[in-house]
Amino acid sequence: MGKRLWLLLVVLVLGYGATMAIGFKGEKPKSGEGDVKQEWFLLPNSESVIKTDAGEMRVVRSHGGRIFEKLLHIGFIKMEPRTLFLPLYLDSNLILFIHAGQATVGLIYKDHMVERELKNGDVYQIRAGSTFYILNTEESQRLHIICSIDPSESLNMGTFQPFFIGGGTYPTSVLAGFGSETLSTAFNVSASKVSGILRKQQEGPIVYLTHSHGSSIWTKFLLLEQQDRLKHVKRMVQERTEEEKEWSWWKLLPNIFGIQDSNKKHKAPKSYNIYQKSPDFKNNYGWRTEVDGSEYKPLKNAGIGIFLVNLTAGSMLAPHLNPRATEYSIVLRGSGRVQVVYPNGTLAMDTYVKEGDMFWVPRYFPFCQIASKSEPFKFLGFTTSSHKNRPQFLVGANSLLHTLNNLELADAFGVSKKRIRRLINAQHESIILPSSSLTDDDDKKNKVFAF
Ligand SMILES: *[C@@H]1O[C@H](CO)[C@@H](O)[C@H](O)[C@H]1NC(C)=O
Ligand SMILES: *[C@@H]1O[C@H](CO)[C@@H](O)[C@H](O)[C@H]1NC(C)=O
Ligand SMILES: *[C@@H]1O[C@H](CO)[C@@H](O)[C@H](O)[C@H]1NC(C)=O
Repeated sequence: MGKRLWLLLVVLVLGYGATMAIGFKGEKPKSGEGDVKQEWFLLPNSESVIKTDAGEMRVVRSHGGRIFEKLLHIGFIKMEPRTLFLPLYLDSNLILFIHAGQATVGLIYKDHMVERELKNGDVYQIRAGSTFYILNTEESQRLHIICSIDPSESLNMGTFQPFFIGGGTYPTSVLAGFGSETLSTAFNVSASKVSGILRKQQEGPIVYLTHSHGSSIWTKFLLLEQQDRLKHVKRMVQERTEEEKEWSWWKLLPNIFGIQDSNKKHKAPKSYNIYQKSPDFKNNYGWRTEVDGSEYKPLKNAGIGIFLVNLTAGSMLAPHLNPRATEYSIVLRGSGRVQVVYPNGTLAMDTYVKEGDMFWVPRYFPFCQIASKSEPFKFLGFTTSSHKNRPQFLVGANSLLHTLNNLELADAFGVSKKRIRRLINAQHESIILPSSSLTDDDDKKNKVFAF
């Protein structure tokens, strides 16, 4: 698409989009002009926060999002076959998406331990303060999870802190903070037994479950029947004295300890499979599907939406903007281009992205994604709202331009109504558009751009 058309569209949107008032303060990229701005909407490389032979967790801390609204980090968990992510709780809300493999996630939900089997495409929420563990029981398949991390409940805005329940010298169990006397009373075992247990674990937060890799404690843990395993974890976090309840870190566990009424049956939410939903939009050039809080309740509580887009080679998700949410996207497959425009009508970013890259687009910023000519382009995204997103398309058969009346459009561009009609009617497809077969010569012939 020609640059001039782009600029015109943006001017137009600004002119008419009275509802799109924004509070963008124009926080500049650190080193001024030039290429830097090209990168501003790309998320930085992920940092490893947990790494062992058995697996790794990486986190991408987003930077600019905070000027607008809720800040989201994105996490990647990779676990080798037959491994366990030790029981822990976080100071952030997580929405898990299973990208590959299968997981057994155990968590304490309203005072009850539950386990959920998750497979490719499943979405699942883990609330801040909920103790959970993740098992990859597959014999040969790796587990790959992508998650949104919403640190709005964290102690220190913007950080992300795991607290390990199980653990020893590495990771350090939060229990280790208590004196051995306290723990001995709490667990009703001898002090030496307690310190023995707390010293033992030193393989790190993600461990192998096979004998060949040691860690017999956690291998035994896996071999326990599910019910026993659940009891075991529950005991680790529940047995405590009155005095311990005063300790501030217990207060981080409202979901576990805040609920006295244990007679009431609490049903932990089920997972939701994004691939089982039929796409919200589909044509020959690709599809887009979105899950919001009305379709999957836990997203409503979390205030997060999740979507998936698959474009065929060369196709484009038409220029659009999100009136309600900022979005964070991760390229799952293929490659393509992302163009983002500032609300004042200047190009903010035009960058090539490939598998594993991440980009974010603030609310109200017009943008589009274009698959490279050689391969399809598939990306997953998290949005900062659980409401139906209703993106506004600027180009295509269903675009905003069609809803504005021709006369005003013509005035806005300072050209005749006929020309405008020709411009906006040239594209018959909507939302996902085929790659262009036109050349600049064709444009001249059609006089579309010859203002
Ligand atoms: C548009 O806004 C961006 C971000 O605030 C700024 O860097 C740029 O200079 C502006 N361009 C114009 C032409 O005002
Ligand atoms: C502690 O353990 C002893 C035996 O090992 C048992 O008799 C006692 O009832 C236990 N106390 C509690 C509070 O569980
Ligand atoms: C995405 O699109 C490509 C190309 O059209 C197709 O081969 C692939 O199966 C699609 N992936 C999914 C998950 O639908």
